[in-house]
Amino acid sequence: MNTLPPESNNDQHSALDNQQSTPNNQLPTYSRAQLALRNGQDRDEIWVGYNGLIYDVTRSRLWRRGNHYEHWAGQDLTKELQKDAPHTEHVFDKFPAIGRLR
Ligand code: HEM
Repeated sequence: MNTLPPESNNDQHSALDNQQSTPNNQLPTYSRAQLALRNGQDRDEIWVGYNGLIYDVTRSRLWRRGNHYEHWAGQDLTKELQKDAPHTEHVFDKFPAIGRLR
């Protein structure tokens, strides 16, 4: 779908062409407003902020339409995971961090 370009100006991928993934500190940064657009309602992409990183959970069946056990995507859910979730942050292991939250 139509994706906003990251606000950071980067051509950092050039040095990483032979690697599988981008180191987290070189991921593009996104604002809270950009994250909020990926709440599962406004666009097809579904993103969740956690611990400074943004994860793409679009392919998760458990985050369909952006809702996950009464939590909404498109925002920083760091505190909510610590407070409410019956699982650890390892649930993010199978999802790529696609950016950093500014
Ligand atoms: C009331 C709060 C919550 C409940 C009851 C809940 C429940 C669950 C359950 C049952 C699963 C699947 C089994 C497992 O991996 O343990 C799961 C997976 C997951 N949860 Fe939560 N969760 C909660 C809050 C959160 C929050 C706040 C986040 C984000 C910070 C989160 C992120 C995830 C992710 C990314 C997965 C993996 C989804 C997948 O594998 O498709 N959860 N959750």
